[in-house]
Amino acid sequence: MNDKTPEQHVPMPQQTIEAIAKSFYREATGYGFRRQDYLRYVNILLDLGLETSGTYHPPNHVQPKPIQKPSDEVLAAVVVRPYKSSDFKMLKKWVDDPMGRLFLSSMPGVKRDLKELVHDPLSVFGIVSLNGKAIGALAFLNIDRESGKAELRKLIGDPIARGHGYARIATKYWIEHGISTLGLRKIYVNTLDTNLTNIRLNEELGMRVEGLLRDEICIDDGYRDILRMSLIVPD
Ligand SMILES: CC(C)(COP(=O)(O)OP(=O)(O)OC[C@H]1O[C@@H](n2cnc3c(N)ncnc32)[C@H](O)[C@@H]1OP(=O)(O)O)[C@@H](O)C(=O)NCCC(=O)NCCS
Repeated sequence: MNDKTPEQHVPMPQQTIEAIAKSFYREATGYGFRRQDYLRYVNILLDLGLETSGTYHPPNHVQPKPIQKPSDEVLAAVVVRPYKSSDFKMLKKWVDDPMGRLFLSSMPGVKRDLKELVHDPLSVFGIVSLNGKAIGALAFLNIDRESGKAELRKLIGDPIARGHGYARIATKYWIEHGISTLGLRKIYVNTLDTNLTNIRLNEELGMRVEGLLRDEICIDDGYRDILRMSLIVPD
């Protein structure tokens, strides 16, 4: 239910709005939008978003997507277990997938291969398991023990397991593990600014946008922006 007045709303971070706009822009340009089409689109968006009453309440039939609570079945079925060397083949297959490759490719900095990362003493990997079947992976990379921070990466490798809330609950467990076992006080993520599922998920997990790294990485011969988000553990 969207029953908050506009004043009670926490303002949406600027970078999130930019990410959504850019995502639409890419799609619309591919669709054939011209300058005048953008103007018409913006006018329609303003009419819908502001309504004549001047409030930010969306029309009744278009409610913001509610945050879905994990069901008891999901809570009982998902666990994150330690990574074993015998998981490597499966992990490699997942990161070679057209979507799964974002696990590695949306990381700023020097490109490193999976084997190197898995064996890096500054990395910890975990496997997401659903009723005993491995469906994805989680990692803390570049663990900086002195500053108590690390980069979180996540992947649901099995495409049919995506979009069921498994990543959300598994990442929640992984964050708790990072805080209680690794002593992390800051957990950050780097995500493509167009990876809206991931951005929403990170926000639901308590992460906030820190900044936008412009033209940070090159994927498929195109430069892409990276959104950096983080969670600071309260003292
Ligand atoms: C990012 C990624 C891990 C998210 O996995 P996922 O399985 O889609 O995540 P979840 O199912 O937990 O949540 C995502 C979606 O499921 C929906 N969802 C959450 N709980 C749900 C439930 N109980 N029932 C149905 N849908 C649910 C969410 O609303 C969300 O929808 P949205 O995409 O419209 O925002 C996955 O897309 C992935 O592996 N991508 C490739 C690697 C990558 O990009 N990693 C991030 C950089 S490290």
